[in-house]
Amino acid sequence: MTLVHDFDSTLNRKNTQCKKWDTYGDDVIPMWIADTDFKCPEPIVKAIQKRAEHAIFGYPCIDKGYEEAVCGWQKRRFGWEVKPSWVEYTPAVVPAIVYAMRAFTNPGDNVLVQMPAYHPFHQVIPHNGRYIAPNLLLHNEDGSWSIAWEDLENKLSDPRTTMFLLCSPHNPTGKCFTREELEKISELCIKHNVFVVSDEIHSDIIYKGFKHIPFGSISEGAANNCVVCVNPSKTFNIAGFRTGAAIIPNRNKHDRFYSEMENLKAFGRNIFGTLAVQTAYTKCDYYADQLMEYLQGNLDYTHKFLQENIPKIKLGPIQATYLLWLDCKGLNMEHSKMMKFFLEKAKVAMNDGYTFGPGGDGFMRLNIACPRAQLVEALERMAKAVKELSK
Ligand SMILES: Cc1ncc(COP(=O)(O)O)c(C=O)c1O
Repeated sequence: MTLVHDFDSTLNRKNTQCKKWDTYGDDVIPMWIADTDFKCPEPIVKAIQKRAEHAIFGYPCIDKGYEEAVCGWQKRRFGWEVKPSWVEYTPAVVPAIVYAMRAFTNPGDNVLVQMPAYHPFHQVIPHNGRYIAPNLLLHNEDGSWSIAWEDLENKLSDPRTTMFLLCSPHNPTGKCFTREELEKISELCIKHNVFVVSDEIHSDIIYKGFKHIPFGSISEGAANNCVVCVNPSKTFNIAGFRTGAAIIPNRNKHDRFYSEMENLKAFGRNIFGTLAVQTAYTKCDYYADQLMEYLQGNLDYTHKFLQENIPKIKLGPIQATYLLWLDCKGLNMEHSKMMKFFLEKAKVAMNDGYTFGPGGDGFMRLNIACPRAQLVEALERMAKAVKELSK
């Protein structure tokens, strides 16, 4: 019998060491950081409870269950045949990006990033002594995004550029890359000897009409020239377990990645985290399917609401992720005032577009992974605050 998850049910997250809810005041609805306000799947809760009852939590040994669970998910959800030997446990996705950068680039090199970009990318690259080579995504008339190919190739052909940090699907624009785009990226990277790190943490959150294609699945060449980083944390709301996995099909590259982890002594596994991931990837397909139906409803609602009530805020055709990149330029407000306006006048906390780097000004990022009633309340507050602007 298929389990049914109730995504409308609400749960008080205040005072649970919760970054999303414990950062702003009680009168603010938090619609920012990328976790969901949904309970995680019941099979995960049960597995954790059962393990906790054992009451001994000593050093774990490594069985291959974790790696096999990652392979099973990739095969069932995306048709990619991953071998367990390609998979490496990582303590999260961002650390995996750092290990890859340290393994495959040298200090002083350029790492290409499509802008605007997930804010930690702006930190980990310079903090590790590398430079960001920004490649701005192009904002089309209909609100969709495309790749600026000429600039991309120019930057990839610079001998100082040795890595492309791809975010697929893309946070914050919600772009889901097509096979043709990924093939072209891969060809250009191989041609210019640029290694690809593909952050696929949002790959389960894909809306109707679009399809996620794992970078390593597109060709043998791509597989040999990449690390694919995944984590079920976004989908199943288990980011607090601090888990992740790097998929590295090429044995030599895998060894280089592993030795960087070893140098940093960064490979210790967390028994609850590994159990949560294994359970998510083996017993929770039903949840991922039902989550997408619910999110599609939230997305459709938001589109309609904005068109009818806040036409000055534009939302393009979102293809993936539960993070909506709202174009607020129509409010004619200085960007530095926008975050404060939504926070203080609407009492809604979003992510400030400015923090996503070039291309981020004039945008706010809204997280819609919450019960519908919460989304409705947040949007109504925003509409009221915007209406009062013109009084
Ligand atoms: C694109 C992207 N990568 C990585 C992360 C963070 O992943 P982790 O917590 O596994 O480091 C996020 C979280 O929002 C994200 O959006």
